[in-house]
Amino acid sequence: MMAGLHIWIPRLIISRAIGFLLAFQLSLVSAQQGFLSINSCANSNITDSNGINWITDEGLFPNTSTCQEFAVPPQGIPSATVRTFELKSGKVCYSLKVDTGHDYLIRATFLGQGLGSSFAVLVGVTQIALVNSSEVSTVVEGVFRAEGGYEELCLWRQSGNPYITGVEVRDLGGPGDYSNYFDDDSGSSSSSGHVLKLVARVSFGSTNGSIIRYPKDQRDRIWQPGAPSSPGDDLLNVPANVLPNTDSTIPSDVLRVALSNPDRLDLIIDGLDDGGDLHNYSVFLYFLEPNISLQVGQRVFDVYVNGVNNFPKFDVLAQGSGYARVNLSVSATGYLNVSLAKASNASGFGPICNAYEVFRVLPKAVGSEIHDVDTMLAVKDEFLASNEGNAVFGNWFGDPCVPVNWDGLTCNVVNGSSVVSMLELSPKGLRGRIPIGITMLTHLTELNLSDNVLTGTIPAFPATSMLRSLDVRINHLSGPIPESLFSLPYLTLLNFGCNPRFYTPLPDTVKKVPLTSDNGICKNDGSSSRQRLVIGTVACGSVIIICAGIFIFCLYKRKFKGRRYDMKGYPLPKIYAVSSGENFMLKSISIEAFTLDCIEAATQNYNTLIGEGGFGSVYRGTLSDGQEVAVKVRSATSSQGTREFENELNLLSAIRHENLVPLLGYCCENDQQILVYPFMSNGSLQDRLYGEASKRKILDWPTRLSIALGAARGLTYLHNFSGRSIIHRDVKSSNILLDHNMNAKVADFGFSKYAPQEGDSGASLEVRGTAGYLDPEYYSTQHLTAKSDVFSFGVVLLEIISGREPLNIHRPRNEWSLVEWAKTFIREQKIEEIVDPNIKGMYHAEAMWRVVEVALACIEPFSAYRPSMADILRELEDALIIENNASEYMKSIDSFGGSARFSIVIEKKAVLPPIPAEGAELSPFNSQPLAPPAPR
Ligand SMILES: *[C@@H]1O[C@H](CO)[C@@H](O)[C@H](O)[C@H]1NC(C)=O
Ligand SMILES: *[C@@H]1O[C@H](CO)[C@@H](O)[C@H](O)[C@H]1NC(C)=O
Ligand SMILES: *[C@@H]1O[C@H](CO)[C@@H](O)[C@H](O)[C@H]1NC(C)=O
Ligand SMILES: *[C@@H]1O[C@H](CO)[C@@H](O)[C@H](O)[C@H]1NC(C)=O
Ligand SMILES: *[C@@H]1O[C@H](CO)[C@@H](O)[C@H](O)[C@H]1NC(C)=O
Ligand SMILES: *[C@@H]1O[C@H](CO)[C@@H](O)[C@H](O)[C@H]1NC(C)=O
Repeated sequence: MMAGLHIWIPRLIISRAIGFLLAFQLSLVSAQQGFLSINSCANSNITDSNGINWITDEGLFPNTSTCQEFAVPPQGIPSATVRTFELKSGKVCYSLKVDTGHDYLIRATFLGQGLGSSFAVLVGVTQIALVNSSEVSTVVEGVFRAEGGYEELCLWRQSGNPYITGVEVRDLGGPGDYSNYFDDDSGSSSSSGHVLKLVARVSFGSTNGSIIRYPKDQRDRIWQPGAPSSPGDDLLNVPANVLPNTDSTIPSDVLRVALSNPDRLDLIIDGLDDGGDLHNYSVFLYFLEPNISLQVGQRVFDVYVNGVNNFPKFDVLAQGSGYARVNLSVSATGYLNVSLAKASNASGFGPICNAYEVFRVLPKAVGSEIHDVDTMLAVKDEFLASNEGNAVFGNWFGDPCVPVNWDGLTCNVVNGSSVVSMLELSPKGLRGRIPIGITMLTHLTELNLSDNVLTGTIPAFPATSMLRSLDVRINHLSGPIPESLFSLPYLTLLNFGCNPRFYTPLPDTVKKVPLTSDNGICKNDGSSSRQRLVIGTVACGSVIIICAGIFIFCLYKRKFKGRRYDMKGYPLPKIYAVSSGENFMLKSISIEAFTLDCIEAATQNYNTLIGEGGFGSVYRGTLSDGQEVAVKVRSATSSQGTREFENELNLLSAIRHENLVPLLGYCCENDQQILVYPFMSNGSLQDRLYGEASKRKILDWPTRLSIALGAARGLTYLHNFSGRSIIHRDVKSSNILLDHNMNAKVADFGFSKYAPQEGDSGASLEVRGTAGYLDPEYYSTQHLTAKSDVFSFGVVLLEIISGREPLNIHRPRNEWSLVEWAKTFIREQKIEEIVDPNIKGMYHAEAMWRVVEVALACIEPFSAYRPSMADILRELEDALIIENNASEYMKSIDSFGGSARFSIVIEKKAVLPPIPAEGAELSPFNSQPLAPPAPR
């Protein structure tokens, strides 16, 4: 036992921690030391006529709505109340605090309901009985040796709802004081390898037909009255002066009468619930010689069980004191016939028997690995702290895997014991932090906590973790991702998108690891829109306040300046008051606040102007650490800057993606409004397609494709941000910047805003965008959706294909609008007419066609016909694969996680609907591009 002791220590610590809440302590009332009596659903604690104290189980199960009361209490239980457990599957348990190494009797009473319920009764993980509600009343009793600090009585649902009326636990003694029910009472582990299930317990000591129990039996075994059954049977009283000297574990009242017969006693125990199979039984026979004048050899008999002579020529007096106890181990089926027959050739008196017990011997089932049991209990505890009453924990009782898994768990067998291998709790409405205990599940390979309301950070996993897949999408988690995750040897999937407070994209170093990840992108698969709506509302609340605040600011400005963007005949935008207690979450990530001095030093007093726009000017600079930056400075005369400045600051604070230009910092000193970005050394896509840069070097088709793909990824991320779309509103080739590796990064969030949600009135701020890219539907209805960006992106695709600007009034009239011009040719399937002459013959036709088709779908006048960015992304991925036809790209998308791909069906219409009157080229933005040039 010593060797085993330290193994139990963690479990003891945990059970102590949860003991007050979840486990019943055995009563310490001195008269009933080691007694625990639970009357399920009873109104109050009560002391019955035997002096036994009963407690209610309302501390453990406070819900009384499933309590029932019957008219007649079953034998020995104060009230006929029944607790029903509405389980769909699995088990529910009473956790009972016990002393390690002690033997216990546990007795459970079930008042039948006739409701078609059927359930198994387990002691720990060992099934000892099946209860069927067709029985009016079922009493199940087991005897076990406690191995840990507590033991469970579990009800494992088979059909209908399990129910229970009473639980009684009785300490049968510890080392030195055992009641001798196990072969080896030295305390070695072999003796605890079984659970005994009571089949019969009979004493002939009760002459008036009553049971014998506490206080006559201090251990409160219930002895049924035995009676003579055959002709010649006789009851012999044991003289009172003999009784006190008997074995202390069997009370004298049980032994005070002996059944005897001149020839033969037959004790028949039938109706064994063994279904016709051979099972092992343990039979205990108790003898106390009633005739004090008898000598050894005067009462000798053979003990047969089912015809086998187990004890030939047994002589009670030969055992010494006149008291004897015989333990028979037998295999049997159907019935047991214990026969005590006067030995042949013996003279003298016939056999006697004072009491007997029959148990079925059930091998202890093997529970889950103890470490996992303890850990799961701790995890449950951690979860319950914030999720009291959550239905998912309705069957989180007892052993997590044996004989049935807790909801959400998948278990495996490793080295002969069950371990938790998967934990899948999605979507379960879980709140609070991710329990730290989860990281200690040594065999956990998959953890899916997606689609909950979990907060806090992802806990760090130890290096020994076997974790292969971690999914915490759609929660309220905040970053960063613990570095240690990336060194987990088996981790191949990591999804953490749709966590509004999460900003961290995967570090670049991680991309080399074969790890599939959503990279924080919020893929909207529509699987749980309700949950997302909640998250979206909470997450966006803060940004909406800011927007509303700026909106008011804007309106105030207008009052004095008049409306700059007058929409003839369209209603004025309305203000929607947003009230919310959410705290603004700006600065939740590492955005640096630069001093003005620092900015001036970096830009050498604004020495190199690289762009200018409505916002102000963009300068190139170098930070003290050598990083090249683009510094956007709001000009003092700018009328539109403040709003864009704050909008971009707010949005960029929360958004991080490898295909979006990140915000490095800002400066608000001295009323300056300065935003700092990394410098994109390869300029903009526009410049590369038909600007100055295009004259130096032709942008080849595969690079164009991969830029389109990168931009599509960035926009997909925006559109799925936090489960709620952010609409860029100014997608154009000059806002797609290229870093030193020609990776595309979408820039300029000055106009971006959250998509209107269900419940928003739908009216939006004034129409924004750039002529040539503007969605005609958005322009005419002012109804903003993510499909407006899709339209603009379609125009960008056409630019990539044709190398032409979206609007050029210096071309012939029918070529002013790239969209209209290209559509005509695409309709006639003459794509070679629109392809940039610079890349003629240097592209794969199939890849080109894919892109053309996507572009055509994007510029559908009616937004409903346009694909989503995610669809576009997949099409572009396919196109690039076709184009490259090389393994290299496969690698790069594998690390991105684009595994599940399917093609969108793009409807090709014979006749395209006419675009609404007043096309984009006639919009008021024609003469005034609104966005500042991108930093170059
Ligand atoms: C019943 O007894 C238990 C154990 O002694 C105690 O914790 C509980 O508060 C009692 N309940 C009532 C209603 O008295
Ligand atoms: C009690 O249980 C019933 C039936 O399962 C359930 O409808 C009810 O919500 C529960 N009450 C509480 C307070 O949990
Ligand atoms: C319960 O007992 C009834 C009647 O004896 C029987 O029909 C039913 O099959 C039993 N249910 C189970 C699950 O054993
Ligand atoms: C039966 O006898 C015992 C004493 O041996 C007594 O305590 C008990 O009350 C009696 N029961 C009945 C029903 O008479
Ligand atoms: C009965 O006991 C024997 C020996 O102890 C064992 O080999 C056998 O497996 C047991 N049978 C059952 C059904 O438990
Ligand atoms: C007890 O044993 C003696 C013999 O030692 C015998 O004479 C007597 O009849 C016995 N009493 C009973 C009640 O059997």
